[in-house]
Amino acid sequence: MKIRGFVYCSVLASFFLLGFLQGSVHGRPLLTSLPAARPRRGDAAPFARWLVSQSSWGVLNTISSEWGGAPFGNVVSFSDGLPEKGKGVPYFYLTELDPTASNALKDNRSSFTISEYNLGTCGKADPENPTCSKITLVGKLKQIDGSSDEAEVARTALFTKHPEMKTWPKSHKFQVFKLEIENIFMINWYGGPKPITVDQYLQAKMKILTFIADTTA
Ligand SMILES: *[C@@H]1O[C@H](CO)[C@@H](O)[C@H](O)[C@H]1NC(C)=O
Repeated sequence: MKIRGFVYCSVLASFFLLGFLQGSVHGRPLLTSLPAARPRRGDAAPFARWLVSQSSWGVLNTISSEWGGAPFGNVVSFSDGLPEKGKGVPYFYLTELDPTASNALKDNRSSFTISEYNLGTCGKADPENPTCSKITLVGKLKQIDGSSDEAEVARTALFTKHPEMKTWPKSHKFQVFKLEIENIFMINWYGGPKPITVDQYLQAKMKILTFIADTTA
């Protein structure tokens, strides 16, 4: 039973991988990027950038204007750039019909939390186990001028990661927001949070595994 399940999974996995690598349709060579390998846990800044860029959602926390200043966490989608081109700054697509955006416009203090558990790379570890990494970026949540170049870049990044966003109702007036990071709290092993400055985080380079799948043969 177990073995059959395993074989079935492996077959599924190989189909998936084959489909992934042979994504080119008409025999054109295709540059396919595999999911980036997780940096060493000691490389704190690249590790943090990896966790952020590989993730697609997290919990965005604002100060509730409605509930007397209580911290208010909300599940949101985000992107920090095009695939493998993320710059570490999370962009969001928010509507004021939702408390998160309206809170931020009244009081921009905010934080954004992501768990590695979502990536499926924590093995059997519990989400609160320090070996299952987590990061909270603390800063100010800011609305971007919708007609700016930055908003254009952010929308492309967001819509690439979350194609459904393009179809969200115009009447809800979704706007691009970003978190201007001021402090970083990350745990990716035992021994407490890893000290990372914002500069170290923003300037960290990640090694990206790219793979040329040439299906012309
Ligand atoms: C956040 O709000 C404060 C107070 O209104 C303002 O001075 C500051 O410029 C804002 N920061 C950002 C990044 O928008």
